[in-house]
Amino acid sequence: MAEEKTAVTAGAGPYPEPQIDAGGVVAEIGRSKASRRKFIKGVIASGAAVSSAGYVFGGLSGCTPAEQAAAPGGVERLLSLDVNGQTRRVDILPNETLAMTLRYKLGLTGTKLGCDRGECGACTVLIDGVPNYSCSTLTHMVRNRAIRTVEGLEGPNGELHPVQQAMIDELGPQCGFCTPGQIMSAVALLETNPNPTRDEARLAMSGNLCRCGAYDHYLNSVMRAAQNA
Ligand code: FES
Ligand code: FES
Repeated sequence: MAEEKTAVTAGAGPYPEPQIDAGGVVAEIGRSKASRRKFIKGVIASGAAVSSAGYVFGGLSGCTPAEQAAAPGGVERLLSLDVNGQTRRVDILPNETLAMTLRYKLGLTGTKLGCDRGECGACTVLIDGVPNYSCSTLTHMVRNRAIRTVEGLEGPNGELHPVQQAMIDELGPQCGFCTPGQIMSAVALLETNPNPTRDEARLAMSGNLCRCGAYDHYLNSVMRAAQNA
């Protein structure tokens, strides 16, 4: 585990590491001069909307209109997002994270939320082919970008992506919670480097933590996927 964390912070190597602020969350908070408390309140409100009626009815529950207005720029706007090759129209708050939008408004729950603070990689999705932490990416910053989630790896006849198949063959996951993020990082690696060395694969996957410690299994899976490609 310590080795993986070190690799994340080292920032060395030819492969793009997951971006923890590609959507400009921190910059956006600064621009809006919003307090951290208000920002968090807004993010929680966007999630609460779904856990109750929001996903079905598109409204904000558990948050009064006055509270919505109090959140920084707290007015929903209709956006078009390119998700898995489809144009998806969705109402979002200015401070809403991509992970919240994907999971609770678009129903793409394959993207997991672990830490929700840019540390674990469970929420990794590809934005224009580059792995990003969707919990740390503002949705409105990825308009006109190609977003790919684990659901988007499915073949035209429902077949698994080679990386997914390799993970099954190598018994990669244990509990499986980190697996979608691990898969997305592996896919990004193999699309830029189809024949990585084991160390290159280890570096490319270093932004994805696994509480079960299944790192070697995941690495075996990536190397098998590269061989089978
Ligand atoms: S949930 Fe996004 S990095 Fe942990
Ligand atoms: S397989 Fe359990 S957290 Fe990775």
